[in-house]
Amino acid sequence: MTRTVYVNGEYVPETEAKVSVFDRGFLFADGVYEVTSVLDGKLVDFDGHAKRLERSLNELEMKAPATRDELLEIHRQLVEKNGIVEGLIYLQITRGAPGDRDFAYPAADVPSTLVLFTQNKPGLADNPTAKTGIKVISVPDVRWGRRDIKTVQLLYPSMGKMMAKAAGCDDAWMVEDGKVTEGTSNNAYIVKGGKIITRELSNDILHGITRAAVLKLAREAQMEVEERSFTIEEAQSADEAFFTSASAFVMPVVEIDGVAVGSGTPGPIAARLREIYLDESRKVAI
Ligand code: PDD
Repeated sequence: MTRTVYVNGEYVPETEAKVSVFDRGFLFADGVYEVTSVLDGKLVDFDGHAKRLERSLNELEMKAPATRDELLEIHRQLVEKNGIVEGLIYLQITRGAPGDRDFAYPAADVPSTLVLFTQNKPGLADNPTAKTGIKVISVPDVRWGRRDIKTVQLLYPSMGKMMAKAAGCDDAWMVEDGKVTEGTSNNAYIVKGGKIITRELSNDILHGITRAAVLKLAREAQMEVEERSFTIEEAQSADEAFFTSASAFVMPVVEIDGVAVGSGTPGPIAARLREIYLDESRKVAI
């Protein structure tokens, strides 16, 4: 089925959607993005994603091409036009197409580019991988210093994913100064003695919207949370490990660099958090 996508004010079939070759997203990775999940045809934590998007734009002095309410309407239109019950909405804003290649930012009157498309993922919530868990390898984190801004500079995370696949694993956890920063497209956690441990927020990691929701729910459920960094060795000897993201929710990690974590099967805390997170997300989705 041909998807209907959104490009700069228009809903068009994906085969007819066009962005200029001079677009700064294409030439300079000068763009930011968000991925919002859809459950029961509704948007999960839309406001969290809209707020982080606004922050990313502000940090890069990039114009917002639409208001929060306009973006909400576009998301909803795309869900409806593409009949999405479970899946993802990808949104990207770039600094636009000034009509030539120039390192300097274009004049203020060059409009930003706004693109959105859906990804239909039936069974996203019931993902069987959540029952078996995934395997990760560690790789050095060589990304730039502003990982808190959700930019489209995703080449290294993409390489990390390929290094993981080459090693027979599913994902890579990136390590800097001996400590885990995050996964290629997710936030990383371990559980030790019932305590949930995840790196504190800084410019070193993306401030995950799922992370914020999961930590809030964990605290409400009287689980202990500690926000601090940890090493790969500590993760390998933890009781459980898992990651969170808008596309995978809460996903158990059962092996790190060939070493089984805990029993080598998904742990009870990750399973419980996944359940609570999905239940709550369905209740508050808009
Ligand atoms: N990635 N860290 C990184 C580097 C990410 O790319 C992501 C999300 C996260 C988790 O953030 P959130 O909970 O807001 O999804 C953490 C999205 C899903 C992606 O690139 O597809």
